[in-house]
Amino acid sequence: MSELIDLRSDTVTRPTPQMRQAMFEAEVGDDVYHEDPSINLLERRAAEIVGKEAAVFVPTGTMGNQCAIRAHTQRGEEIILHERSHIVLYEMGGVAQLAGCVTRTLPSPDGILSWDQIEPLVRPASDHFCGTSLIAVENSHNILGGHVYPQQVLNGICDEAHERGLKVHMDGARVFNAATYLGTPVHEVTARVDSVMFCLSKGLGAPVGSMLAGSADFIERARLTRKVLGGSMRQAGVLAAAGLVALEQSPTGLARDHENARFIAESLAEMPGISVNPADIQTNIVILDVRGTGMSGKELSAKLRERGVLSNAIAPYRMRMLTHFDVSREQCESAMRTVSEVLQQVGVAVGD
Ligand SMILES: Cc1ncc(COP(=O)(O)O)c(C=O)c1O
Repeated sequence: MSELIDLRSDTVTRPTPQMRQAMFEAEVGDDVYHEDPSINLLERRAAEIVGKEAAVFVPTGTMGNQCAIRAHTQRGEEIILHERSHIVLYEMGGVAQLAGCVTRTLPSPDGILSWDQIEPLVRPASDHFCGTSLIAVENSHNILGGHVYPQQVLNGICDEAHERGLKVHMDGARVFNAATYLGTPVHEVTARVDSVMFCLSKGLGAPVGSMLAGSADFIERARLTRKVLGGSMRQAGVLAAAGLVALEQSPTGLARDHENARFIAESLAEMPGISVNPADIQTNIVILDVRGTGMSGKELSAKLRERGVLSNAIAPYRMRMLTHFDVSREQCESAMRTVSEVLQQVGVAVGD
């Protein structure tokens, strides 16, 4: 089989030659003593880029979100967030396990919430209720298709939340994709949230690591939870060095990934049995409905895998394809030819 075309996630990116070189040359020290110069530099740059006082390097986005939640809340408080957010679905119930908090979730078709939806759920602590202390937004939203918060909507949520003494955390695993879509610097996207987690190891292409940023005292508290979770590393400057390259060099490539995602959606929209709206594509995530092919997402993805194209089934009839810097336009074209061949072989007819 020729090389695999991996559209499962942007987590699959491998470090670039520049990242490997930077890792080789990295100055390191013991980060638990704050003595790793590469990590110190990465934390300063990350904070600067997202416009916050301080940042901390964490091994994963999940740990970054969980450190944030612990630092913003007390046990027995409530967090309002989207029902299909990463924090709710894919973090092992960490909100309950680690922070001792309760989630109150809201639906929306695209992963974007508004203050009008959130407001009725906000409640003060009382003899009967857990009080709300935190709102978490996901920007861009992963599992509902990479949608981006309109800045006004996000700013509105933050302003209203702050008026009521609530904090807002952004799961910005892909906030650089969001900023690329909006055509604004990242610090404008994150300006009014109290904290933001973003991943170096997704579209930015670093092999490992995420950043959590916020006020200096928030980051001090988050560091304590990172330690509890075993996430305080020692000479991890080798990782931070790759992260720095990712931070400085990769954002400019995201527009290309978005164009490739749009290309994939447009190609799939022409194929029988597949339903996807190309106008819905804002960033690098394509969600497709394959019910009309007569195959489940799992069946179609297994057939594609046999032919060297990797993608994920995310629900019985839904699949997800992501673009990233390890897939070129030619590979996207080749992947689309493969999907088309599979549909022909299975006999999916136009009009199905
Ligand atoms: C929106 C979002 N948040 C958080 C994470 C967690 O990142 P990690 O896999 O590094 O724990 C992911 C990972 O896919 C994600 O998509």
